[in-house]
Amino acid sequence: MIEIAPSILSADFAHLSAQIDAAERGGATLLHVDVMDGHFVPNITIGLPVVQSLKKFTKLPLDVHLMIAEPGRYAEQFVAAGASMVSAHVEIDPHLNRTVAAIKNLGAKAGVVINPGTPLSALEEILPFVDFVLVMSVNPGFGGQKFIPTSLDKVRRLRDMIKQRGLSVRIEIDGGVDKHNIGEVTAAGAELIVAGTAVFGGDDPARAVRELLDATMQTI
Ligand code: DX5
Ligand code: ZN
Repeated sequence: MIEIAPSILSADFAHLSAQIDAAERGGATLLHVDVMDGHFVPNITIGLPVVQSLKKFTKLPLDVHLMIAEPGRYAEQFVAAGASMVSAHVEIDPHLNRTVAAIKNLGAKAGVVINPGTPLSALEEILPFVDFVLVMSVNPGFGGQKFIPTSLDKVRRLRDMIKQRGLSVRIEIDGGVDKHNIGEVTAAGAELIVAGTAVFGGDDPARAVRELLDATMQTI
């Protein structure tokens, strides 16, 4: 099932609750939360207190994307704060298996994230343990960047890899997805679609989510 996960990074933080309501009205079924620490990526965003507040406010499952130097040190705290999904980058965590197990033990879905420059072979050992893989289609750190077209082939190869191994791992994609390329992205095999600028960049997040969902229907 295709799901849209609006990224609040591009939302108007002064009117966050209204923006989230609008995205949900439009058909969003997840909420993507980008946590950045200024070390792993050159930007600083939000942390645990915001996740706690979001959890109280919205029924949408919170999909927390950790772009921080020590994901294993904080992952469980994000589940405790209300995250339903937590993902950590393969590039930064030397104890990825432990981090994934810790997230799952607390009852949340565990994911791993790969940067555009990281080959799929980096998933070799961790793949059987994860609920989802997040393929970055931009270099992480900022919203509003251009989709890297080779990500489509990467998603296709990942889909094949998952199928060949008989696993049930969902594929998420993040960065530069809009109503013009979402059809190709879902056709390639991505099911969980993060969209920041495409949802919150205009003045009607509800319509923007509907347009994204409509665009995926047209290619099915
Ligand atoms: C980038 C973040 C993304 C970002 C996507 O580092 O992980 O989630 O918000 O924004 P758009 O959809 O504008 O590329
Ligand atoms: Zn993200």
